Amino acid sequence: MNKHIILLPGDGVGKEIMASAKHVLNATASEFGHSFTLQQQAIGGSAIDQYDTPLPEATIKACGEADAILLGAVGGEKWDSLPAAKRPEKGLLGIRKALGLFANLRPVKGFPSLLHASPLKEHIIDGSDILIIRELTGGLYFGTPSERRDHGNAVVDTLHYHRDEIERIVDKAFQSARLRHHHLTSVDKANVLESSRLWREVVDDKSKEYPDVAVEHLLVDAAAMKLITQPDQFDVMVTENMFGDILSDEASVLTGSLGMLPSASVRSDGVGLYEPVHGSAPDIAGKGVANPLGMILSVALMFRHSFQMETEAAAIERAVHECLAQGYYTADLDMKDGESVSTGQMTEAVVENLTVKSVSDSICSM
Ligand code: NAD
Ligand code: IPM
Ligand code: MN
Repeated sequence: MNKHIILLPGDGVGKEIMASAKHVLNATASEFGHSFTLQQQAIGGSAIDQYDTPLPEATIKACGEADAILLGAVGGEKWDSLPAAKRPEKGLLGIRKALGLFANLRPVKGFPSLLHASPLKEHIIDGSDILIIRELTGGLYFGTPSERRDHGNAVVDTLHYHRDEIERIVDKAFQSARLRHHHLTSVDKANVLESSRLWREVVDDKSKEYPDVAVEHLLVDAAAMKLITQPDQFDVMVTENMFGDILSDEASVLTGSLGMLPSASVRSDGVGLYEPVHGSAPDIAGKGVANPLGMILSVALMFRHSFQMETEAAAIERAVHECLAQGYYTADLDMKDGESVSTGQMTEAVVENLTVKSVSDSICSM
């Protein structure tokens, strides 16, 4: 099957982990007999440096015509003092909005070999398997006005949602819960925010269409606490844009590192942008030590959600599992003993397991 994929490496470790993604993608293509056309485009700080904008028209056009998009990360100190519209982050927000990618799926599932890499107690995190569904194109990130007033001494950010925007993400969450353990936790701040009260109303209305899914409402402050004290109580969690951003970084602690978490940003027709949850990690950029697994697992999500290639997705996830079980880990994972490997070595280990495993599978099936 031929697919056209746009690569947006971005900034900092984004470039390093995109090289890993490409390697895994090429290995998967040759193992499973696919051909992919890969085309690189600029976004974020590197697009500002080249084209004086974080999101060039050519990037939007290419992404609009692609079957799927892979993104590394954007941002860095170099561009931090630019005006809001010119910041690297605006490129990322812009491409999500331009493509209508309203649903951000952030699966949080630990690998058994990394149980002791988390600062949390093993018996607390063991068995946790959460899908965080974050609304991605509304809320505080996109509400207008968002500006400075009164000679810069007063500021306004607007949290805006329309019922339709809430309905489509809540629908997505109920549908996802149906495919998992039939439990949905909706997270809001309905004791304070009007937007949260509408959110809760929509969830309750929608729940009538999904009587087989048990629904629970949690206030975001309590949810933040419960996420790391009783993570096994969650199945699917749905929440607005900013709460989802914060809670997913927190949830990454369950897996041992922020570098482990993948994400899929999708719309209803399956077109998607796939990126790790973490940022450009300026503190380690250029050192070749970034954990590539969040990015590599995002490639697996691309196979699953955009291409309906479950075998390929599962093969990549199994290869990650195998190399962790073999003792490979990057420096962000606090493994106490042994020696950490580089981004490149970790990627090689994944590719090796991908190849060996599918060869032995085909021998078994003969
Ligand atoms: P960050 O996620 O880049 O880093 C937070 C911490 O996690 C750092 O200590 C970093 O070294 C570590 N980390 C992150 N990814 C890692 C990986 N793959 N391997 C090993 N360690 C990893 O967040 P930040 O430092 O708050 O932000 C840095 C820049 O990234 C900012 O400009 C921010 O706007 C941007 N950012 C971009 C995205 C994105 O592109 N999706 C996401 C978050 C932050
Ligand atoms: C993420 C990032 C972005 C967000 C930033 C860089 C705009 O933190 O993808 O989680 O907040 O959505
Ligand atoms: Mn974030």
